[in-house]
Amino acid sequence: MNKWQASAALTMALSAVIIAGCEKAPAPGSGRQSIPDAAAWIARGAGVYAQHCASCHGAKLEGQPEWRRRLPNGRLPAPPHDESGHTWHHPDEVLFAITRNGLLPPYAPKDYATDMPAYAGTLADDEIWAALAFIKSHWKASEILAARAQMMRDRQPR
Ligand code: HEC
Repeated sequence: MNKWQASAALTMALSAVIIAGCEKAPAPGSGRQSIPDAAAWIARGAGVYAQHCASCHGAKLEGQPEWRRRLPNGRLPAPPHDESGHTWHHPDEVLFAITRNGLLPPYAPKDYATDMPAYAGTLADDEIWAALAFIKSHWKASEILAARAQMMRDRQPR
């Protein structure tokens, strides 16, 4: 880490603490900022996913039927996490924040009614990253990988 990176990291760490205090942005999760790609994470995540996510998002990540149409209670069904869904459009830390903290501002309107649980308190941060590693391992289309690479570059601090 050079001097610039060190000071950028420190600034980010400090602002993360301040922002987390206002509950507006992701709480820092084990210092990790991106979804791991290693096979061990994916294997661990398969178990976490099967136990905690598959009941709504589908054993094959296919989501619930007609996931774009609101249920009679006004809530949205669980979307697919495979390539047909929307999940891959979000940067890594956004997916982490949604899974950990739930659909809170800035990722949803205030008091947004949703069936998506918040997993802080149920899953350790590493288990959340592992579940996301498993989900991410299903994104293989070159257009999706290119779009994600661009997205992850764009979010780097300047
Ligand atoms: C009880 C059902 C349920 C379970 C269990 C569940 N989810 Fe969800 N999830 C939802 C619903 C419903 C939505 C859509 C919420 C909305 O937009 O209102 C959602 C949305 C999401 C999103 C946002 C997707 C997007 O494209 O914006 C992510 C990420 C997510 N879930 C991850 C997970 C992970 C990871 C797990 C397991 C650790 C999990 N969910 C378990 C119901 C569930």
